[in-house]
Amino acid sequence: MSKERFIVAITGASGHIYGIRLLETLRELGLETHLVMSRSAIVALAHETDLKLKDVHALADCVHGNDDVAAPISSGSFRTRGMIIAPCTTKTLGEIASGACGTLVSRAADVVLKERRRLVMMLRETPLHLGHLRNMVTVTEIGAIIMPPVPAFYPKPATIDEIVDHTVGRALDLFDLDSGRFKRWKEPSADVRK
Ligand SMILES: Cc1cc2nc3c(=O)[nH]c(=O)nc-3n(C[C@H](O)[C@H](O)[C@H](O)COP(=O)(O)O)c2cc1C
Repeated sequence: MSKERFIVAITGASGHIYGIRLLETLRELGLETHLVMSRSAIVALAHETDLKLKDVHALADCVHGNDDVAAPISSGSFRTRGMIIAPCTTKTLGEIASGACGTLVSRAADVVLKERRRLVMMLRETPLHLGHLRNMVTVTEIGAIIMPPVPAFYPKPATIDEIVDHTVGRALDLFDLDSGRFKRWKEPSADVRK
């Protein structure tokens, strides 16, 4: 395998900017990205950003349709470093928790988990009811990492970009990938790539 592959899923929650920055950062790091977006993600995109769907697609190396359950990322034999769902809805959380994987997003996540690869879910909803919390416990028990995009304020972010870079960088840390795009605690800020 020449380039390492990485799956990025964008679902219809608020926070598309996280998935977009993730694609940009993975490209900088030289990974081959496989993007899948849910139908609701495409709807929500227009509400949150000025980007067109083609602009988001252009950030990925390969784009797969969410109904294409025969796409390469639907098989465990297609090796990947893992997957981040950014942002992740409570609906997609529920699908993954139940194992009822009727879309490529949930199928690819299920595959990542069964192959014991890393799955990070940037779940975005608030407040949460007990059903959401139970689903979070279930996916954690089967190997996923729930990482809500909760901003850190100790780095004193001056822009939304800094907040997003911090969260995306911490998510990539979970794959031992250093984005180089945020200031680490008690490390010099000169190391941060802009
Ligand atoms: C603009 C917009 C923002 C939304 N934000 C959220 C959200 O933050 N979290 C969430 O769980 N659902 C959110 N939804 C609802 C989901 O898009 C909806 O439940 C959808 O069926 C999820 O499908 P998916 O998981 O296949 O993307 C939002 C919908 C819209 C249109």
